[in-house]
Amino acid sequence: MLLHKIAEVREKVKEWKKQGLTIGLVPTMGALHKGHLSLIKKSVDNCDKTVISVFVNPIQFCPGEDFEKYPRTLDADTKLAESAGVDIVFAPTPAEMYGEGHILSNDFLTYVVPPFFYTDKLCGKSRVGHFDGVCTVVNKLFNIVQPDYAFFGEKDRQQLIIIKKMVKDLNIPLEIIPCPIVREDDGLAMSSRNKYLNPEQRKEALVLKDILLNIKACYNSGIKDVEALTETAYKFLKSCHNLEYLEFRDKNDLELKKVADKDTIVFIAVKIGEVRLIDNISLDS
Ligand code: PAJ
Repeated sequence: MLLHKIAEVREKVKEWKKQGLTIGLVPTMGALHKGHLSLIKKSVDNCDKTVISVFVNPIQFCPGEDFEKYPRTLDADTKLAESAGVDIVFAPTPAEMYGEGHILSNDFLTYVVPPFFYTDKLCGKSRVGHFDGVCTVVNKLFNIVQPDYAFFGEKDRQQLIIIKKMVKDLNIPLEIIPCPIVREDDGLAMSSRNKYLNPEQRKEALVLKDILLNIKACYNSGIKDVEALTETAYKFLKSCHNLEYLEFRDKNDLELKKVADKDTIVFIAVKIGEVRLIDNISLDS
């Protein structure tokens, strides 16, 4: 069922709660691919009812980012979601979420602002305010849907860590379920933004997983020093790869590591042409 209004979702949720049913929420910005579908499947398999949101959230895009051209494929998304067993596809307009005339500046909207320590690094460094926008919309979705479980991908690992922190700090009564990264056959992490890549760039995009897998192999062979592990990445980089960051951080609090261990996540962001791609790998197991 495709719903556009908050009140309609609330009504359905009320009914389900009365019947004692468990609710899973999968927040998305649409243009659904197999990565999203893996989250949906986990929810459908583990919850009585599954709601997905499809909302390209204006307040998490920075000026000059791809808000306008972000792929919007609601018809196909709805069909895909329903055939995967989703009960409600919630696709509000910005006006429905943020009010008529949708005044989005933080002078006029109550924001949920995660701690600076978590947002001043990695993607937050180049996308100032991005995680405030994410936490604000995710909080609103939690309040609208009141799920028992909410599903987030490890593809956006910093986002997942920040949302877990928000849920803990604000005592939000639900459980966050992390879901592993789904990749194309050749190893590229699936992303709605992969659509922007031309065939040449699509090949070049494999550099992210090549660097991460090589670092993991070196770590497994006994190299633990982060500087030495970082060095191994440079042989993969060509002039067309604009490395934004390659960082080793703790999986819980994003603290920088000097010596890699099983709690280390290696984070990478590379710009290929105008397309910014991110990926990460855990050094555990
Ligand atoms: P979006 O990029 O559409 O992603 C929705 C969810 O799908 C996120 O939890 C993301 O981590 C997960 N996901 C995307 N690609 C994945 C992949 N290849 N493997 C596993 N999971 C994957 O992330 C957002 O939207 C937004 O910031 C949102 C949380 C919806 C707030 O607006």
